[in-house]
Amino acid sequence: MLNIILFGPPGAGKGTQSERLIKRYGLVHLSTGDLLRAQIAQHTVLGAEAKKYMDAGQLVPDEVVIGMIEHRVRDEQHTAGGFIFDGFPRTVAQAEALDKLMERLHIPITHMISLEVPKDELIRRLLNRGETSGRTDDSEEVIVKRITEYELKTRIVADFYQRYNKLRAVNGIGTMDEIFDRITSHLEAVPTTQG
Ligand code: AP5
Ligand code: MG
Repeated sequence: MLNIILFGPPGAGKGTQSERLIKRYGLVHLSTGDLLRAQIAQHTVLGAEAKKYMDAGQLVPDEVVIGMIEHRVRDEQHTAGGFIFDGFPRTVAQAEALDKLMERLHIPITHMISLEVPKDELIRRLLNRGETSGRTDDSEEVIVKRITEYELKTRIVADFYQRYNKLRAVNGIGTMDEIFDRITSHLEAVPTTQG
């Protein structure tokens, strides 16, 4: 069973590639950004609180997103053919909480795929998306804040999975098909026996 974390900065292509991966492998897609935007659309208290952070380009507090993810994983653990986590975990505390949850449920993370895209390309993509997405955080000022937040709090999460040899870095520049092929070649690689 595949349980994948799709990792990378804002605009790296996590949502784009998630859509393709869920079709190929029948995975359940858990995007904390999408879950939070759904809360905002439904005018919930949680949504109103999260919106303040999201509009400022800051991370929403850990306990909020960890609670949302735990709830969804527990709900779907027996029906899902595997999970794809998109935009989660984004802090070391979130990674530790996910690790504990998956260990308790006996469904370990199999891969962290990290999409590598330089900052100028991220900004270009998100400004472009902002013209039609209706996402209030796709303005230049907020995009730059989101990328800074990634550099300060999120990038180090990759080290956590590197330690367990689960991290796979993928060049995120190229066509969407090329990047998809790079990702699937990691997911379908036969594990090498060690020692
Ligand atoms: P979230 O919704 O997760 O947004 P993000 O990480 O900022 O990433 P994006 O969704 O903007 O980019 P993406 O990597 O999905 O790229 P996409 O495929 O869309 O989070 C939003 C906010 O919610 C956060 O700022 C935070 O406040 C809060 N939040 C969410 N999760 C949280 C958590 N765990 N903890 C705390 N707070 C949390 O692609 C981008 C664009 O590029 C698209 O237009 C696409 O068409 C285009 N594109 C994709 N691939 C290519 C390509 N190969 N070539 C050219 N263009 C491409
Ligand atoms: Mg996304």
